Amino acid sequence: MKLSTTALLAIAVAVASASPTPEKRANPKGIDVSAYQPNINWSTVKANGISFAYIKATEGTTYTNPDFSSQYTGATNAGLIRGGYHFAHPDSSSGATQAKYFLAHGGGWTSDGITLPGALDIEYNPSGAECYGLSASAMVSWIKDFSNTYHSSTGVYPVIYTTTDWWTTCTGNSAAFASTNPLWIARYASSIGTLPAGWSYTTFWQYADSGPNPGDQDEFNGSMAGLKQLALG
Ligand SMILES: *[C@@H]1O[C@H](CO)[C@@H](O)[C@H](O)[C@H]1NC(C)=O
Ligand SMILES: *[C@@H]1O[C@H](CO)[C@@H](O)[C@H](O)[C@H]1NC(C)=O
Repeated sequence: MKLSTTALLAIAVAVASASPTPEKRANPKGIDVSAYQPNINWSTVKANGISFAYIKATEGTTYTNPDFSSQYTGATNAGLIRGGYHFAHPDSSSGATQAKYFLAHGGGWTSDGITLPGALDIEYNPSGAECYGLSASAMVSWIKDFSNTYHSSTGVYPVIYTTTDWWTTCTGNSAAFASTNPLWIARYASSIGTLPAGWSYTTFWQYADSGPNPGDQDEFNGSMAGLKQLALG
């Protein structure tokens, strides 16, 4: 069988207009890591074309990542733009208390051009009710408390890491943060899909939970200059 010229042309147009997967795009790439990746060769990561990293600092008010300092220093020495993230436990203490704990253990921010705003990892409860037993309005208040406390101390709003599915279920798809907090969406697919209410674009996209580099694989939605701009506030 032989395809007609018309059919071949139609295929060529379809291939050209399909948007490339994150791996193929030129946007700055990043990784996010935790104590599951204790021994990272950051010069290799940098040589592989990774520009930024988010490193787990804290969880609730009882856990600090034992590898945070070495990971943060390693990323810094390799020339990466980096920042810390906090895994939220909205059932165990207030947003303000957890923001202060995060700030005291690596989550701080200064406008030095190499530090990303701290990120709030707010997602599925790993050990109980999906929404930690909070109503949607209580969840929104908790996130506001965390976000405002972080902002008062650093001058920037934290990045919010979540999934559209969790956000819709547990905040009632709140649009209250879209004009202040950069968004970081986890979605392991070739396109990002529907975003939570209010946000018209995402700042970061975690597009895979494994790949050629340690940890989860991320992309910045913009240029290298834009990434540096974010690190300057
Ligand atoms: C990291 O990897 C580089 C090669 O990319 C190698 O030269 C270097 O020795 C490694 N560093 C450590 C501490 O293993
Ligand atoms: C990236 O940002 C641009 C606006 O700067 C937006 O049009 C686009 O949809 C965004 N991409 C994603 C995946 O959100």
